Amino acid sequence: MLQPRVKASKCLVSAFKRVFRPSLQVWARRRCNVAAIMPEAAGFEGVSDHNNLQEYSVSNSESFWAAAARQRLSWIRPFHTVHDCDLSRGKIRWFDGGKLNVSVNCLDRHVHACPERVALIWEKDEPGSEVKVTYRQLLEMTCRLGNLLRRRGVRRGDVVTIYMPPCPLAVASMLACARIGAAHNVVFAGFSAQALADRIRDAQSSTVITVNQGVRGGKVAELKRTVDTAVHSCPTVQQVLVAMRTENPVAMTAKDVAMEEEMLQEDVVCEPEAMDSEDILFLLYTSGSTGTPKGLVHTQAGYLLYAALTHRYVFSYHDGDVFGCVADIGWITGHSYGIYGPLANGGTTVLFESTPLYPDPGRYWEMVQRLKINQFYGAPTAIRLLLKYGDRWVQKYDRSTLKTLGSVGEPINTEAWEWYHRVVGDGRCTVVDTWWQTETGGICISPRPSGPDAEIVPGMAMRPFFGIKPAIMDPEGNVLASNHASGALCLSQPWPGMARTIHNNHQRFVETYCQPYPGYFHTGDGASRSEEGYYQITGRLDDVINVSGHRIGTAEIEDVVNQCDAVAESAVIGYSHEIKGEGVYVFVVLKKDVEVDEAELSRQLNVMVSKKIAKYACPDCVQLVQGLPKTRSGKIMRRVLRKVAERDFNSLGDLSTLDDPAVVQKIIQGHRDRSKKEQQQQTP
Ligand code: PRX
Repeated sequence: MLQPRVKASKCLVSAFKRVFRPSLQVWARRRCNVAAIMPEAAGFEGVSDHNNLQEYSVSNSESFWAAAARQRLSWIRPFHTVHDCDLSRGKIRWFDGGKLNVSVNCLDRHVHACPERVALIWEKDEPGSEVKVTYRQLLEMTCRLGNLLRRRGVRRGDVVTIYMPPCPLAVASMLACARIGAAHNVVFAGFSAQALADRIRDAQSSTVITVNQGVRGGKVAELKRTVDTAVHSCPTVQQVLVAMRTENPVAMTAKDVAMEEEMLQEDVVCEPEAMDSEDILFLLYTSGSTGTPKGLVHTQAGYLLYAALTHRYVFSYHDGDVFGCVADIGWITGHSYGIYGPLANGGTTVLFESTPLYPDPGRYWEMVQRLKINQFYGAPTAIRLLLKYGDRWVQKYDRSTLKTLGSVGEPINTEAWEWYHRVVGDGRCTVVDTWWQTETGGICISPRPSGPDAEIVPGMAMRPFFGIKPAIMDPEGNVLASNHASGALCLSQPWPGMARTIHNNHQRFVETYCQPYPGYFHTGDGASRSEEGYYQITGRLDDVINVSGHRIGTAEIEDVVNQCDAVAESAVIGYSHEIKGEGVYVFVVLKKDVEVDEAELSRQLNVMVSKKIAKYACPDCVQLVQGLPKTRSGKIMRRVLRKVAERDFNSLGDLSTLDDPAVVQKIIQGHRDRSKKEQQQQTP
């Protein structure tokens, strides 16, 4: 009965082919082209180049992300809903119904395919002492650690705080959490005991993982001691797992666990938890415009998919490449492009423990030569610093393996971009200035992916990634639709990598990101769109500054400065800094009858800020003033202080709403006196 029908349908097909052969060929060509751009998109009709793939991904976001999620991730149970989001209420859900395990996606499936492939290259502080870890070894380490955590009572949904430098055990700790369903909370190992304690308390962690000592730039940091101090004020902490980065023993307390010793007793098989797509994968604290850092929450499937996809397509990562992201694991860049993106793609990723100047300014490029790095991803602040040491430190080394150079964390000025391109990349590498945030989970705007010949404008992030639809808003909340516009940068529709909430404070999430422009995600950055439709990021619009690519709220620094006995009140401002991008400028009003000079106060404040926050947040300039410029309602007019810090005295703007406009001239005079004194001190 069936045969005639098959025959008939075969006839029909060949007749159809005869009639439609030309258009079928075009269709096949299109299908073929798009598969070459992005295999996940092979089934999308009418898509033949990057431009229309980007358009497709935005206007057919469900089918785009569904195809990507099915093909790029391994699921324990398939999802039934691609997304269920209402940006105006901060409701963001992706891949509901789906179950998966992130560590299985990052390890097990690659172990099945190629167990001896190198997953991590740990570039230790001392050049030439790198350690390679295969996928098999990393899975084993992760499983032992997962079993240890389980045996020590860590359960699905708990938050484990990790205070470690970049090293394989730190990666295994993160993946072990993912394996057993706990969330990790990595705190940058440069943060002080107090900053660490604040984050442990907010996360309510009962387990902390650390190392005895850190080693960076030839110096030893007493990380375990910092944890001891922090834990004193964290009643929730029940145990501290201590790994040995150096051979020096440290004092162990009743709470401490010798991590490596106990790991050896654990099994190398650890049953992965089946996690829901929207279960928490990690918290990562970042600064906002208030004094309290916020624990941004990222979840399982959407985050991993977005990190994997952006890693592959922005950097044009191919199997077998060595990916060198030099960001610390304590920042989102270390999470997404040091670990999750590359490992989800079965890649080889470098964990950089050192600094760009250790033992000399050739460190990065000597490492590129030795490890044969294909994609290098770093921060403009380091590029600006290295540029000052001249080309010879770069040219000494073979960089012929490099294909893509990435920049992240702050605007890259044209001089640094050109040097990166011309000297580091020998004028032949693709340079991608990538814009994104802790909140976005992965890169949102960058020159690639786009056609291989598509133009790249120096110092410009340019093009939205697949699924990203930027909008530029005027102050009244109107979308500026035309090109050649500038205003507040928003993202018009949800994407899988975005943060879901702020830990324990969804209200703050909604108020910060969703309410300023209802229905849009508010980034806090300003941007302009050129005639050609390219995006340029112009900087933060709020009281957050970016020092050496690290975000810090001015209010956080003010909180510390105001705790100084001598200080009555203060205002902290970011100002242009040649190397750091932005420097920290502090205006201080002293308490009555207190006498202290600027140099001494500056020394005191530096000690306090590094003790209470971290070294990178220390003031670069401290100026004593008699009063701060305040409006009649008592609000500090920061824009005036910003102009003073920038020495832009002639465009102070409207001062008529100030309570005492005369205060401004006094501040300017103080600034001039200060500069004069500095010059005199510099002249021998
Ligand atoms: O102001 C933007 C700046 O860094 C902020 C995000 O900081 P964070 O969450 O710490 O993440 C840094 C690593 C992604 C942004 O709001 N920023 C990041 N990348 C760029 C940038 N500014 C200009 N150009 C960039 N490429």
